[in-house]
Amino acid sequence: MSEYKKIVVLTGAGISAESGIDTFRSKDGLWEKFRLEDVATPEGYHRDPKLVLDFYNQRRKQFCSGINLPNAAHHALVELEQKFDGDFLLVTQNIDNLHEQAGSKSVLHMHGELLKARCPSSNQLVQWLGDLNSDDLCTCCQYPSPLRPHIVWFGEMPIGLDKIYHHLSEADLFIAIGTSGTVYPAAGFVEEAKSSGAESIEINLEASEVHSHFDQVKQGKASQLVPELVKQILS
Ligand code: NAD
Ligand code: APR
Repeated sequence: MSEYKKIVVLTGAGISAESGIDTFRSKDGLWEKFRLEDVATPEGYHRDPKLVLDFYNQRRKQFCSGINLPNAAHHALVELEQKFDGDFLLVTQNIDNLHEQAGSKSVLHMHGELLKARCPSSNQLVQWLGDLNSDDLCTCCQYPSPLRPHIVWFGEMPIGLDKIYHHLSEADLFIAIGTSGTVYPAAGFVEEAKSSGAESIEINLEASEVHSHFDQVKQGKASQLVPELVKQILS
């Protein structure tokens, strides 16, 4: 029987790094290879849709190739979701589907999901595993629109904030795994959790931009530290 009743977990690109998926801001990360403003903003998409669609098509091809498999950190979070007898919410900033591949049943993708496309008019989602091109039109509107990647870009509203803040207001444990703490509102979740009296733990290779807000900072690889932490919580 765990001492905790309500746990919120936030994951970032770092949890998928050991599965072979580039992070954004680590050395050789994505933002060193692409101008963020060109491929991760609505302005970049409207300026050059083909560049943006190709950027995500490359990453979708990689995700669908099967070369990136969940690692021990993803599997440990599945065990926590299954065995923890309290309230559990897994929020990810990641657009990959490694949490689902590992067996997580309910994942809140606050920055969207690369394996889905979205109608810009109706916001309807469709599973999309192949290339998305500008002539791929929605089938939900009388006057079809070109589908867009179901990705939240810089400047757009993240998904599920009401649910996330509700869970943070009741949490007694908040864990952040593999996120640099540079993008809001996710970087502010630790303060939300602490104002509700929750204990806060950060797991990261190096101290994040918001590490000083956490009660505990565990430095090291997620694939080692997450299974250890889950074992402690469930013991
Ligand atoms: P932000 O903190 O995400 O970024 C602020 C601004 O700083 C952005 O407009 C961006 O152009 C710039 N910036 C951030 N990191 C940078 C970097 N490493 N190098 C250069 N410039 C950088 O705040 P925002 O723009 O208000 O983002 C709003 C929401 O967009 C965020 O809440 C986040 O959820 C979402 N988002 C999604 C993605 C994605 O690729 N899925 C990327 C970024 C943000
Ligand atoms: N174990 C633990 N942490 C790791 C590991 C690992 N094996 N490898 C890398 N990290 C950490 C890095 O130290 C870094 O702090 O993961 C973090 C990755 O940070 P970012 O690349 O900034 O990714 P993230 O925090 O998810 O970015 C937030 O910004 O660009 C947007 O939408 C994008 O969702 C992303 C958001």
